[in-house]
Amino acid sequence: PTADQLAYARSLFAVTPDFPEPGVFFQDISPVLADPAALRTVAEGLLAPFAGDFDMVAGIEARGFTLAGMIAALTGTGFLPIRKAGKLPAPAGRVEYTLEYGTAVIEAPDVLTPEHRVLIVDDVLATGGTLAASRELIGQLGSQVAGAAVVLEIEALRGREISGEVHALFHS
Ligand code: PRP
Repeated sequence: PTADQLAYARSLFAVTPDFPEPGVFFQDISPVLADPAALRTVAEGLLAPFAGDFDMVAGIEARGFTLAGMIAALTGTGFLPIRKAGKLPAPAGRVEYTLEYGTAVIEAPDVLTPEHRVLIVDDVLATGGTLAASRELIGQLGSQVAGAAVVLEIEALRGREISGEVHALFHS
């Protein structure tokens, strides 16, 4: 994508102060997904550094699903849902990780093989815990992580110190 196309997509983010709790500025990509040009810009921008290096795209529930599915369609690759606990009938793997308050669990279905090279995609990198756990989950299932890409990195939270290397299209 060009700089102008990226700037247009960036301009569409909706920021809601004090959601889901006081002091948090919630960054919602819904208007970006709703705009045909911005949606394509974001999907192409996320995959660009990894083109040819992956054959499966893992989307993290929930907003990562949309982007990962689109990247899979654009690149002729497969889609893997990384889901919150309890949604899959027969998960092949699970990873529990720490949140600011409490813990969370992610799971994946039994579709990966050791040959799969997986690109992980999500909308936002915050503390980095979800992405770190996703990497661990794919490793647990015996596949390789080809890379990780997010639309927006919230730099103040220093998530990449936990998540490892990640391609972020935008920063706040
Ligand atoms: C958000 C976002 C990432 C995660 C990042 O998901 O979509 O998946 O948080 O946070 P972290 O870097 O601190 O781990 P959310 O929990 O809002 O779930 P949702 O997409 O299902 O609404």
